[in-house]
Amino acid sequence: MSATTYRICLLPGDGIGPEITAEAVKVLGAIGERFGATFEFTEALLGGAAIDATGSPLPEETLTKAHAADAVLLAAIGGPKWDTTDPAKPRPEQGLLGIRKALGLYANLRPVKIFEALKDASTLKPEFLEGVDMLIVRELTGGLYFGARARETGVEGAATGGGVGMRAYDTMEYREYEIERIARTAFEAARLRGGTVHSVDKANVLESSRLWREVVHRLHAAEFADVELLDQLVDNTAMQLIRRPAQFDVVVTENMFGDILSDEASMLTGSLGMLASASLGDSTALYEPSHGSAPDIAGQGIANPLAMLLSVEMMLRYSFSMNEAADALSTAIEGVLADGWRTADIADASTLPQKTVGTSAMGDLVTGRLAAAE
Ligand code: IPM
Ligand code: MG
Repeated sequence: MSATTYRICLLPGDGIGPEITAEAVKVLGAIGERFGATFEFTEALLGGAAIDATGSPLPEETLTKAHAADAVLLAAIGGPKWDTTDPAKPRPEQGLLGIRKALGLYANLRPVKIFEALKDASTLKPEFLEGVDMLIVRELTGGLYFGARARETGVEGAATGGGVGMRAYDTMEYREYEIERIARTAFEAARLRGGTVHSVDKANVLESSRLWREVVHRLHAAEFADVELLDQLVDNTAMQLIRRPAQFDVVVTENMFGDILSDEASMLTGSLGMLASASLGDSTALYEPSHGSAPDIAGQGIANPLAMLLSVEMMLRYSFSMNEAADALSTAIEGVLADGWRTADIADASTLPQKTVGTSAMGDLVTGRLAAAE
């Protein structure tokens, strides 16, 4: 049998990262068997693990392996062990930001959807969650994260009382092409979903937002007039996400606003443990769960692998065009949840104690459903 071979670069990272990566590999094995594909894995270091082994959060070898792969699957990075405000010390997050930039991953897609079986997990009243299914499209390689920044010492008038002290700044900078390409991603997604685009900015204050709005509207008029476009100021969006979340379909915004709004939106689902993400560039893509490395539960075998598996689903869809396999995976996950199986983070008062399972058992349940459905 001449199965297609896909090369995946695994970046297990820190904390619970290695545990949930193992489940992704397990599930991809089952997918490969059922759908006649072969997945080849290489593993590389990123974040704290890379700092410990090499001194750098993003070793050259990791970039080489990531470039050579068809897709990159990242688990999570960071932890208190490496927390520092000393600018001279390496931080795990530099590895993540560095790989986003180096691979040109400018479009970060963060779907927020409510799983029927988990709708009571949200802190919002269930009636407000009816119809919530949105896609946050976050610009990922520009803005405040990558603009000029510095800390200066010996600045006149900077200290309390007006003496000589320190000053620090970060710059929010956008170029037309950066805005245009992320807006295109958003409009194309909205067209596919048959939905609207909310373009979120702070055009009443920021020059970069005024350029954002201009470019988004220009592209809209030229190529996407069939898609409904709405402008919204970021503070209003923060409020509307809680007030009436179902109004949103595709939300497109700059890097920092997207960072904040996507964490806020994730809580509509009640669990960060269920949210996947894809970071797409022109030549490659990286998939990662939206949650962090959860160092407090690392190594205990209790982490929820589902956001990681949902990231695998996105990888199958976006990088390998294996839509049938992606659908099967998502059906398997929904089935496992509908049967009442939960990891500790999504368990509630109604969960039977014998149905609260660990990381590996959850992976087995999903794999079992994938195989059984053949
Ligand atoms: C995210 C994270 C990262 C970000 C951190 C870890 C640098 O919060 O992916 O949203 O701010 O982009
Ligand atoms: Mg974030």
